[in-house]
Amino acid sequence: MTEFLWGGATASYQCEGGWKEGGRAESMWDRYLHDHGLENGDVASDHFHRYQEDIRMMKEGGHNSYRFSIAWPRIIKNLEGDINPEGIAFYNQIIDTCLEYGITPFVTIFHWDLPQYLEEIGGWLNRRTCEAYTHFAKICFDAFSDRVKHWTTFNEPRYYTFSGYLIGNYPPGHQNLSETVTSAYYMMLASAMAVREFRQGKYKGQIGIVHSFAPVYGVDNTVRTKIAMRYADNFFNNWILDTAAFGEIPGDLLGELSKVCDLSIMLPEDLEIIRKYTVDFLGLNYYARVMIKPYETGETTLIVNNAGSKAKGTSQTIIKGWFEQVRPESSRYTEWDTEIFPEGLYEGIRSVWKKYHLPVYITENGIGLYEDASEEQIKDQERINFMDMHINAVLNAREEGCDVRGYYAWSPFDLYSWKNGTEKRYGLVAIDYENGLARKPKESYYWFRDVIQSQGKTINRKKYEEVL
Ligand code: BG6
Repeated sequence: MTEFLWGGATASYQCEGGWKEGGRAESMWDRYLHDHGLENGDVASDHFHRYQEDIRMMKEGGHNSYRFSIAWPRIIKNLEGDINPEGIAFYNQIIDTCLEYGITPFVTIFHWDLPQYLEEIGGWLNRRTCEAYTHFAKICFDAFSDRVKHWTTFNEPRYYTFSGYLIGNYPPGHQNLSETVTSAYYMMLASAMAVREFRQGKYKGQIGIVHSFAPVYGVDNTVRTKIAMRYADNFFNNWILDTAAFGEIPGDLLGELSKVCDLSIMLPEDLEIIRKYTVDFLGLNYYARVMIKPYETGETTLIVNNAGSKAKGTSQTIIKGWFEQVRPESSRYTEWDTEIFPEGLYEGIRSVWKKYHLPVYITENGIGLYEDASEEQIKDQERINFMDMHINAVLNAREEGCDVRGYYAWSPFDLYSWKNGTEKRYGLVAIDYENGLARKPKESYYWFRDVIQSQGKTINRKKYEEVL
């Protein structure tokens, strides 16, 4: 049996900093945040300079794996596809440092930092980006696959395309359904094209995709609710998971979309690539479930709380004609409106395993909190409770026969949380941004080390009722 992977997950833009160093090109996030005068990742956690300290702390915290992403703008300099050797050297150092510490590198090829030179030709609305992505992926396989055996093509295509093209709170900041469908389609096509490259190049190892997993619950057992749940499952999950794992975009989803968008970009030869090049495993990022009811009234509305306690309770999702999200009052929520519902992880893993029968990694799980990094010892009991309940859910699913192979905390150290800035902290290790970016292990860091050392025996075990 393969060793269970325990670790933390990061994304290049959110932690590296060094935005103008090492020959890095500009990314769409640099441009967007600079232009809008918003808090940015120019320095972030300064992982670019401090990766050795960070990876050493992972080791000392018991981790045997590190999930990180490769910044495309560090590797490929321009539209012509020229390689930046300094970028390759940087990730060689990260990988080698991991291996020196006995840490398995788990690599995301794309975690949202698209080069600005591609955004300027339309980004994910331009088919050329699929080709450019495949070139980038191949360069990564060639450079790193002698040491990296766990690859994922994309981090959360659903969250990225919804935020960038439908909600409009991420770059490029559009609100357009047709663009959402186009960008999502091109990302899923690009994912299959990278899998094809991986298979044809006979690289050793496995390749998967990471999905922002939101198990769908209904308010009752009526047929109307069941139909709304199917819409919601297509919207939140199936168009990523079915496409990547079965090689099929759900037919009923295509039927619905064809009523409102032009789907002629979906060429038969693309669909053949998608059909043929499916993934080896699924990475699930789990933060919360969604509870839904049948659509009743109102325009399509998607409101995400990026302002924390100042906007607590404002989040809302209505998809006209399909479903409405409800927020059960009896549940607990974070300051950013994320429901705390560990049972959803247990039920979700079971349903994914039953449906796809592919190995699963929990590639992200964690809680964003307000914390004071100047404190001597940060006592993040809330994070400990959160992780304890969620790891319990993973272990329960595993003991019932689901092939779950790893759990990654988001995040091993504090980092930049996109539009939420750095005040929303997720790390096991605090970063004192006001004090030279000093690293300080929180209580959760030591707690997680003990969990890993005991292989989960220190977790408070309890069974969940079946709810789905
Ligand atoms: C996931 C992403 O959506 O959730 C991460 O893969 C992200 O990049 C994490 O940071 C937490 O979300 P947020 O918006 O609270 O930072």
